[in-house]
Amino acid sequence: MVIKMIDLHSHILTGVDDGAASAEESLAVLKAMEAKGVKKVAATSHYPLYEIDNYKGFILDKLQQLRQEAEAAGLEIEILSGSEILIDRKTAELFYRDQLLTLNETNYILLETYPNTYPDYFSDLIHDLKAMGYQIIIAHPEKYPYIQADFSLLYQWVEEYGLNLMLNSSSLVGKHGSKTKETAEKILRLGLPQLMASDTHGIKRRTFSLDQGLKRAESLKPGSRDIFLKNAEAVTKNHKLEKFEIKREEKSILKKFFSFFSSSKDI
Ligand SMILES: [Fe+2]
Repeated sequence: MVIKMIDLHSHILTGVDDGAASAEESLAVLKAMEAKGVKKVAATSHYPLYEIDNYKGFILDKLQQLRQEAEAAGLEIEILSGSEILIDRKTAELFYRDQLLTLNETNYILLETYPNTYPDYFSDLIHDLKAMGYQIIIAHPEKYPYIQADFSLLYQWVEEYGLNLMLNSSSLVGKHGSKTKETAEKILRLGLPQLMASDTHGIKRRTFSLDQGLKRAESLKPGSRDIFLKNAEAVTKNHKLEKFEIKREEKSILKKFFSFFSSSKDI
C-alpha cells in the first residue's frame, strides 16, 4: 500500500539555490515524489539570497511558475510555499518586516543554523520569534556537529524553548554518514523530534527518501511513522503537533562512573 505523505522540506524550485537546476529537474523530482505517494510538498528554498531585493516576491513567482509547469505536465502533487531560513542576527527583523516566508502561510517557520558554531544570539532570536507568534521548526538538528558533541542542547530546545525538531529522512537512511545517522537514531529513540521530511535537492543527488526514512523510523520506534505523517499535515493546517514521550539520554557505564566521582568530590 502506498502511504500518502506530506513533505515539508525540499529544494524543488528551479534555479533558486543548490536544489533543482532546471525546469526538467524540478518536474522529474515532483514526478518521482508523486509516484512514491507524496500528495503535498513544501518548496523550502534556502534563504538568504543576498543578491535578491524582493526575496518573498521572487520565491512566490518561482512557485507559481512551477505550479503551472507541474499542472501542464499532468502532475497532481500540490506545491506549498515555504523557505529554509539560515538564521542570523537580522532574522527576527526580517520577519517583522514581512520579508520571509512561513510554511504554507501558517505560523510555522523552518530554520537552520550554520553547521559548525552554535549562535550566541540563538535564545534571544527564539524569544523574539515566539513573541511574534511563530511556531519554530529546526531543520536536521542531527547534522550539526555542535549537537553531536553536546546533546543536552536538544533537551533545552524542546523542553525549555518549545522548538519542534525535524529530522531529515536522508540522515536516518545513512546518506550523510554514520555519525549523522547515529545522531538521528538517538534523537528519535529519545522521543525528541516531531517531524520528518526529505530535504530533497535533485533527481541525481540528495534524492527523495521520505518513504524509506518513515519506514526506518517505524522500525526503530513503533508508532513514529503515524505521528510524523499526522504532524506534517498539522503544520500545513496550522494545528498543534503531537509529541512523543521524551526519555532522558542514556549514559554509558563509563560516563556514569566519571560523573559519580566528579559529584563525590563536591561533597
Ligand atoms: Fe534543506
